[in-house]
Amino acid sequence: MARKRMTEMPHHENEIAQVLIPEEVLQARVAELGAQISADYVGRDVFIVAILKGAFIFLADLIRHLTVPHEIHFMAISSYGGRATQSSGVVRILMDLEASPEGRDVLIVEDIIDSGRTLDYITRNLRTRNPASLRICTLLDKPERREVEIPLDYVGFEIPNEFVVGYGLDFDEHYRNLPYIGVLKPEVTGEET
Ligand code: PRP
Repeated sequence: MARKRMTEMPHHENEIAQVLIPEEVLQARVAELGAQISADYVGRDVFIVAILKGAFIFLADLIRHLTVPHEIHFMAISSYGGRATQSSGVVRILMDLEASPEGRDVLIVEDIIDSGRTLDYITRNLRTRNPASLRICTLLDKPERREVEIPLDYVGFEIPNEFVVGYGLDFDEHYRNLPYIGVLKPEVTGEET
C-alpha cells in the first residue's frame, strides 16, 4: 500500500543524494538502444512485452527510436514479501498479456534487473507460449546482485549496488517522474547503516 509522503515536494529533488545517470546521458543511450534494436529486427514485426510498472517511461522513449514495425503489450508483475528496496523473488502475474506471443519475435522491455528472479520467472513463463524468439532489453543492470543468471541482449547501463529511483523506478511508489536515475538519501529509504 503506497503511503502519502512529502506531497509538499512534488519532485522530491532534495531527497536525492546523487544523480547517477543524468537525463541527457539516459536519452542518448536510449536512442542508441533503439537504433541497435531497429538494426537487429529489420524485416520483422516486434512483439514488445513491457513489464509494468517500472518500464513505462523507458518504453515510451525507446519506441520513439524504433524504425521497425512493433506492437506494444504489457504484463504487470508483482514481487511481494521483501523489503521496499529489495525484491523478494516471489513473483506473481497481476495482469497478463491480452494477445498470444506464439510464433512472434518477443522483446521484453524492463527497467532494471536485480536478482534476476522476476525476469527468470517471466522468460520461463513466456517460453511456454512458444514465441519464435525471445530477447531481453533492460535499461539498468545491477550484476552484483544477481542470483539467477539471465542472458541479457540489450543493456542500457550497468550500475553499482545502489538503490536507484527515477525514470520509471520507484521507492514506495514515488519518484518515478524524475527525468534522471538517482540515488536516494539513506534517511529516505530508512536503510542507513
Ligand atoms: C522491479 C523491476 C523488475 C524487478 C527486478 O520491479 O521492474 O521487474 O524489480 O528485480 P529482480 O531482478 O530482483 O527480480 P518492482 O517489483 O520494483 O515493481 P515496479 O516495476 O512495479 O516498480
